[in-house]
Amino acid sequence: MIALGCDHGGYELKQEIKKYLEEKEIPYKDYGCDSLQSTDYPIYAKRVAHAILDGECEKGILICGTGIGISITANKFKGIRAALCSDCFSAEATRLHNDANILAMGGRVVGPGLAVKIVDTFLNTPFSGEERHKRRIEQMETD
Ligand code: RB5
Repeated sequence: MIALGCDHGGYELKQEIKKYLEEKEIPYKDYGCDSLQSTDYPIYAKRVAHAILDGECEKGILICGTGIGISITANKFKGIRAALCSDCFSAEATRLHNDANILAMGGRVVGPGLAVKIVDTFLNTPFSGEERHKRRIEQMETD
């Protein structure tokens, strides 16, 4: 199950991502927002982070205008690794190396065609499982 969240700046792109997930028959849960009305991105970052940490969803996709505020918020949660990506190379690398569990994007940064390819790459790339990457991920969790 994929958790989706956005603010008003990411709403339109989220609708495009939903179309892609439906075409691919990938189950998702939408944690809002539900319109273009101005709202606060931390609300949705927190909902999606909780959905992952509670085991309700395996991965998440968060979108705000830039992807920055929403990813900063999600990364405050221990166990969340949110990667802000605007290209497929980064989306692949963050799965292979960081085992990222949230993809963040900027609805005012990437167009829908590229965003769908980034999502496709993110969802279809497994974690490498390599020892050095596991070690570095563990190191993220300590002061
Ligand atoms: C909202 O205008 C905008 O600040 C938000 O979507 C995001 O870009 C914040 O990082």
